[in-house]
Amino acid sequence: MDHLTVVKHPLIQHKLTIMREQETPTAVFRQLLREISQLLAYEITRDLPMATKRIETPVAPMDAPTLAGRKLALVSILRAGNGLLDGILELVPSARVGFVGLYRDEVTLEPVEYYFKVPELLSERLVIAVDPMLATGNSSAAAITKLKEAGATDIRFLCLLAAPEGIARMKQAHPDVPIVTAAVDEKLNEKGYIVPGLGDAGDRMFGTK
Ligand code: URA
Repeated sequence: MDHLTVVKHPLIQHKLTIMREQETPTAVFRQLLREISQLLAYEITRDLPMATKRIETPVAPMDAPTLAGRKLALVSILRAGNGLLDGILELVPSARVGFVGLYRDEVTLEPVEYYFKVPELLSERLVIAVDPMLATGNSSAAAITKLKEAGATDIRFLCLLAAPEGIARMKQAHPDVPIVTAAVDEKLNEKGYIVPGLGDAGDRMFGTK
């Protein structure tokens, strides 16, 4: 995969616009995030390895395509990653699931870890780390570093929105990790928010503000 894939599908772009609007209610925001997560997951899993399986249809036997290899691992970067997780799990119900808990220090904007739990045999799985907002890239890069320390070698990063600064940070720290996103916005503001962005994704999906 390329280092950066921006999925410009009209359905994704339309849904994202509704999510960006400040008047969009929490329930609608959450539902749209779920829908977009599935469309992005469709893209990020496009080249999964395949095998064939001998089956019998009601009409004839055939060698039919099926997913090969170990079940993939979805890793949610807490807390906002959970908004992407549910939708992707609907699409890939047998995926294993992990969580990385990082919060962003409001002053330094540096990531601080408070939770880490991931599936076993990470080194044998495709790992898809999910976090809606790739802003400074500090927490995403730190989460990926933790996943590599836990054995992951084949990692992809799925987000809803990315800032150029976050993409550059990830490329510098983890050039081997492809990023799939719905849009690349203009910049970060002085508080580390993506501009124009959509605000705090966690607050908007959980209604905490
Ligand atoms: N996290 C968010 O939720 N929003 C931003 O704009 C940046 C980081």
